[in-house]
Amino acid sequence: MVNYKDLGLVNTREMFAKAVDGGYAIPAFNFNNMEQLQAIIKACAETKSPVILQVSSGARKYANQTLLRYMAEGAVEYAKELGWEHPQICLHLDHGDTFELCKSCVDFGFSSVMIDGSSLPYEENIALTKKVVDYAHQYDVTVEAELGVLAGVEDDVVAEESHYTKPEEVIDFATRTGCDSLAISIGTSHGAYKFKPEQCTRDPKTGKLVPPPLAFDVLEEVEKRLPGFPIVLHGSSSVPQEYVDIINSHGGNLPDAVGIPEDQLRKAAKSAVCKINIDSDSRLAFTAAVRKVLAEKPGEFDPRKYCGPARDEMTKLYKHKIIEVLGSDGKAL
Ligand code: G3H
Ligand code: 13P
Ligand code: ZN
Repeated sequence: MVNYKDLGLVNTREMFAKAVDGGYAIPAFNFNNMEQLQAIIKACAETKSPVILQVSSGARKYANQTLLRYMAEGAVEYAKELGWEHPQICLHLDHGDTFELCKSCVDFGFSSVMIDGSSLPYEENIALTKKVVDYAHQYDVTVEAELGVLAGVEDDVVAEESHYTKPEEVIDFATRTGCDSLAISIGTSHGAYKFKPEQCTRDPKTGKLVPPPLAFDVLEEVEKRLPGFPIVLHGSSSVPQEYVDIINSHGGNLPDAVGIPEDQLRKAAKSAVCKINIDSDSRLAFTAAVRKVLAEKPGEFDPRKYCGPARDEMTKLYKHKIIEVLGSDGKAL
């Protein structure tokens, strides 16, 4: 049994309480490799932003869960080396789908876990979430639950269509499970293709797709019923057009990729939404930088020569999200 507190990590409780009060959101960035982690920590150290490092099942398979945990421990030391005196770093399991997986992460030094029972019938979601909460809280590990189903693919949890969270269920769900935060469905979804072209309108000037607005009315109803309760938004990448253009003009093919406009996320961050999940934008930044270097220098074969620029581009992206979208800069001095 490893306690996250011995690793210098923190859970989400205090982070979320301050974020809800202060009208900003904590960045939850997924990581799968060293360059991504370096970029996240550098961006957060330079902006003094609290951060949630997320590990998905896919990341555990790709990079090995033991290695990822030690990387997170190393991240705390790296942050201090960068001059960040009191790093507030949370290590979080993203989309845990079984009690056993959540338990193994709690036992292994994670400070927060998500149990995603959103694809289960309501009562089964409650029972599974409560079981995880009861276990995790013994070690002061915080638990994120999900109610409502996002469109698209959530790791191994496949949802055919989007079902917005039903506000009338949230009090019962939060009370009976004891969860610390709740991911809700208000129209976001995972990946770089969040909306089908037929769900969007086209900007007559640019010809680009304009996505439909998020269901802020559902968010407001949830907030009314659970005042001050931490709400989480998954699937919140914006799919920056500049990255899509670089990828497409350097041999890639991402037709009609579309994300959540940043002004909508800015608005959400000021509400009870206190955790915003971003993964795909970092993948796009990485891929755009790598494609550019390899297209411009076909003789290059040293991975540091293309992973280095990719890391710089991700650092720029993370800082932009922290300062311009989430407003979490300066909140972890
Ligand atoms: O929620 C999905 C995250 O972006 C993680 O995706 O399963 O491909 O690592 P992944
Ligand atoms: P994006 O695919 O929009 O980056 O969402 C990531 C996410 O929700 C991770 O849980
Ligand atoms: Zn997610």
